[in-house]
Amino acid sequence: MLTTEQNRMITQVGAGTPMGELLRRYWIPFAGASEFDEKPVRAVRLLGEDLVAYRDGSGTFGLINRQCPHRRADLSYGFIEACGLRCNYHGWLMDEAGHVIEMPYDDTANPAQNLKAKASTKAYPVKELAGLLFTYMGPAPVPELPVWAPFTWTGGFRQIVKSDVPCNWFQCQENSCDPVHFEWMHDNWGARLEGRDDNSAKHLQLDFVETDFGHAYRRIREGQEEGSSLWTVGRLALWPLAFYLGEHFEWRVPVDDENTLSIAWFFEQSPKDVAPVMQDKVPVWISPIVDDTGRWITTHVINQDIVAWVGQGRIADRSQEFLAASDRGIVMMRRRYFEDMKRVEQGLDPKGVIRDPQLARCVPLDRVLLPPLPGDLTREQWKKHPGLSRKLIDHRHCAGQPAKVRQDYLRAMGFGPDLSLLPNAGQKLETQVS
Ligand code: FES
Ligand SMILES: [Fe+2]
Repeated sequence: MLTTEQNRMITQVGAGTPMGELLRRYWIPFAGASEFDEKPVRAVRLLGEDLVAYRDGSGTFGLINRQCPHRRADLSYGFIEACGLRCNYHGWLMDEAGHVIEMPYDDTANPAQNLKAKASTKAYPVKELAGLLFTYMGPAPVPELPVWAPFTWTGGFRQIVKSDVPCNWFQCQENSCDPVHFEWMHDNWGARLEGRDDNSAKHLQLDFVETDFGHAYRRIREGQEEGSSLWTVGRLALWPLAFYLGEHFEWRVPVDDENTLSIAWFFEQSPKDVAPVMQDKVPVWISPIVDDTGRWITTHVINQDIVAWVGQGRIADRSQEFLAASDRGIVMMRRRYFEDMKRVEQGLDPKGVIRDPQLARCVPLDRVLLPPLPGDLTREQWKKHPGLSRKLIDHRHCAGQPAKVRQDYLRAMGFGPDLSLLPNAGQKLETQVS
């Protein structure tokens, strides 16, 4: 349980708030790069700030204040140039560093005055990594952008899935250190949704461990194999706003105090009888969270999580909760966030900020490995495997995967749309849809 004041501190994300300042010490993903192929200018709201993201004619990404530095027009209606984004009102041109590089009328009428040198707008750096766009919204010196080891993996298929979630980000992130909900929400409730009344293996023992980059939870469930990496390694609530599950990441990106952008990045290793896949782009798709009747979608894993998050209220009131032994990881996490808010106030780096370029180049993360791994099996074996055969029918985690992405995924795994085995599996995949 938290006091109302503590709850406010842990949920507010605006500039100048303790948590807002803590989050501004990290690189944060906000979009997929391929989204800009068809629409190069997009409004972005991040940590309570209204911004516009664009990719200009030279391929450079920018993230600048949404309102024009001239007279505040909406730059999400601007248009790109070879370098920069031009306002549609009086034509001022801004670059990715926030410089005003053209002021058409003033440049013509009063060139000697060079007024543009005195104007500027807010701009945040953007880096592309593994098909994602990351930004850093904090003070200098800018830390390294960590290349998590899975971003370097090859021989598989990557995809990025986004959902707009109407609640505060922190209740989503608490879910990253909450093992017991798997048994109830995804297994037992999932069974009821499919008309079954069986219950899955009970959790018998939990452990929560702080690691270099987050908090791991470890579990023993009924019937679990001795030495399982679910107990020896566990899954990681990755600092400060992600969940790492081995083959995918989920970020809970704060849009503002009452909205979260869920961004998930998936890697699926190809079967062993398929040549390595090369994707020239990572597809990005939007997973809906509401069905035709206005109810939350409950059919997929992340959709089920979202039902829990939004059900906790727009901003969960932690002064009214009753914590139990299963919440020990959440208590540890909260304590660490409060400590780190203090560190930031004192001018120190919070947990997990990487300043060593050598380390940032490929940051190893321990992961749960449950045999058989997808790459250890042939396509025929995939078809017979209970988990992998399900993946061939639908995306397991997110509802609404577009048919084109599904087809590209199947092709990368060496299957045709009818699950026939493709003869020349694993050739280069051409441009993906976004
Ligand atoms: S308001 Fe943007 S150029 Fe005038
Ligand atoms: Fe979950």
